[in-house]
Amino acid sequence: MKIPFVDLQRQYQQHKTEIDQAIHEVLDQSNYIGGAKIQSFEEQFAMQCGTKHCIGVANGTDALYITLKMLGIGEGDEVITSACSWIATCETISQTGAKPVFVDIGQDYLIDVEQIESNINSSTKAIVPVHLYGQMADMDIIKKIADKHDLIVVEDSAQAHLADRDGLSVGAVSHAATFSFYPGKNLGAYGDAGGIVTNDDQLAEKCRQFANHGQLVKHQHKIEGINSRLDTIQAAVLSVKLKYLLEWTSQRRNIATHYGEALKAISSLRLPKINTNSNPVYHLYVVSAENREELQEYLKSHNISTAIHYPTPLPFLECYQYMSHKKEEFPIAHEESSKILSLPIFPEMSTEEVSYVCEHIKHFHDSH
Ligand SMILES: Cc1ncc(COP(=O)(O)O)c(C=O)c1O
Repeated sequence: MKIPFVDLQRQYQQHKTEIDQAIHEVLDQSNYIGGAKIQSFEEQFAMQCGTKHCIGVANGTDALYITLKMLGIGEGDEVITSACSWIATCETISQTGAKPVFVDIGQDYLIDVEQIESNINSSTKAIVPVHLYGQMADMDIIKKIADKHDLIVVEDSAQAHLADRDGLSVGAVSHAATFSFYPGKNLGAYGDAGGIVTNDDQLAEKCRQFANHGQLVKHQHKIEGINSRLDTIQAAVLSVKLKYLLEWTSQRRNIATHYGEALKAISSLRLPKINTNSNPVYHLYVVSAENREELQEYLKSHNISTAIHYPTPLPFLECYQYMSHKKEEFPIAHEESSKILSLPIFPEMSTEEVSYVCEHIKHFHDSH
């Protein structure tokens, strides 16, 4: 058996007729930028998220940049975020002119909310929690801290479509939440795509305007903007796929339960820590393994693909060397970066395939 890390081909084959038809409708109309299909997807996604607005943009990185910039974050500001994420979270903070300030993670791989307040100073303007691997950060506490210090909150939800925690869905209590629809994400387009959701009418309009060269009406450029629109073909694909997102999410949860049950007795492995009242959507299933490199090699030799998300915590990336961060400042992020291993997970993964992965992890454990 050969187990891919994700298999986008399987999903396409299952929904080929519907997806091909949606793409062909765009081709037949030859309307590739803007139009009813964009609006329809934005409305459906906003409804699914329980927010007033969704603004489709070119990718999840732009979604963050546009939102931060339109919230007035820039030169001289500090923005607090997690030490563990993908580079897009902090490169967009820097792109606005602000400085990313990293906070260590907890055992759940999410920003340690206990350490946020000690990083707040008079320059702090915002907090960008990351709902890493599909589990929401503690938005209840983050919102309280933000209110106390009058800070903006933008949720990086690139990996957390439809997650909730403590009865709060993504985008419910923040200024805005941003999404990536990169092909491998829980809701993935057939190319780059992203979105911003918010309940703030003014922010929604500003983001829409900035993402489209500063215009809401053709040729009326009220400000200078950028070109970051969601392609019509991508919106057509996303609208079809959105109908299945709940079903796919529950399949991901079933796979996570299967892994959890089958692997819980393995002492050299720490399973994902799921917080009370949290409903993650398992974009990734990340275990912490004592002998990660050997385990990954063993699985590879049995045709099981795994990955590492991410090998280097953000403060230690070469591009942030100028900040001179030390390992002791981020002990958990540092320690976990040598242990984390993402096991294969995608909605179409069969029970036999999950069992095959579990069996091999057990064999590895028994033989070491
Ligand atoms: C946590 C996080 N934030 C932001 C992004 C950026 O999204 P995109 O690749 O669509 O630009 C990603 C994508 O991998 C991500 O995982």
